[in-house]
Amino acid sequence: MYSKKGEFNRKRSEMYASAMKNAYDARKNELKLFDDSFRYGKKFFKIVDFGAGNAFLSNYLADHFSESYVFALDPSLEMLTSNINKRIKSINDIEKINNNSVDAIFSLAAFHHVTNKKMILRKMHQILKKNGLIFIVDVCDKSVNQRFFDEIVSKYSITGHDFDFLNKDWMRYLAKESGFVLKKVKQNEIYWEFENEKQAILFVKNITGLKMRTDKLRNYILTNFEIKKSKSQFLLRWPLGYFVLEKK
Ligand SMILES: C[S@@+](CC[C@H](N)C(=O)[O-])C[C@H]1O[C@@H](n2cnc3c(N)ncnc32)[C@H](O)[C@@H]1O
Repeated sequence: MYSKKGEFNRKRSEMYASAMKNAYDARKNELKLFDDSFRYGKKFFKIVDFGAGNAFLSNYLADHFSESYVFALDPSLEMLTSNINKRIKSINDIEKINNNSVDAIFSLAAFHHVTNKKMILRKMHQILKKNGLIFIVDVCDKSVNQRFFDEIVSKYSITGHDFDFLNKDWMRYLAKESGFVLKKVKQNEIYWEFENEKQAILFVKNITGLKMRTDKLRNYILTNFEIKKSKSQFLLRWPLGYFVLEKK
């Protein structure tokens, strides 16, 4: 209802899982952006990881919120198959979650995939308890990674990629329209971390499901992304926005 049908199909999900398996720590700095949520001082018992994929963030949340129960929510059953621990329950439809039952919703790298963002926020408003919180980390408009998605991924990904990315003003509007207060917006300068260039290029290719020549992709990455190199590391700048919304 809120997603592009068949986007994370079996082949796309396999490529995603392969990227994550071969360089699991590459994205660890993305998880750390959620550490800010720990400072809200609340005990979250029922948490939703929205667009959970193969539970990269769900596992992190289950580890930190040790008394909580995490719903790993994703419309793609192929994405949901791996990495589920006993306090993580995978579900594929937000309609299965009871109204006024959720303490907090977290989402990593998934919100841009939602086709009707206002509608999903209204749905999130229904399932959250009063003063419930949403923490979103995602690629934002007018960033190097947004340009990469629009110039390369939309053309060469095996399932395409045509989505609208958030910015601060749009999120403020969406929040107001759906009964939230936008409490925080932050742009974060983070890096994906690899052992070497080869690992990085393969990771980018698989995580975005690209069917394109590796030398062409390498050329795009080296020309467009900011890179920091040392003998044992290859760091690729991957800026991400962070948004916190509170149910009024
Ligand atoms: C780039 S992956 C991110 C997965 C995971 N959060 C991570 O960081 O590895 C985007 C995920 O969003 C999911 N997705 C797409 N549309 C969605 C929707 N309307 N509601 C929830 N999840 C959605 C996809 O199936 C996919 O698993």
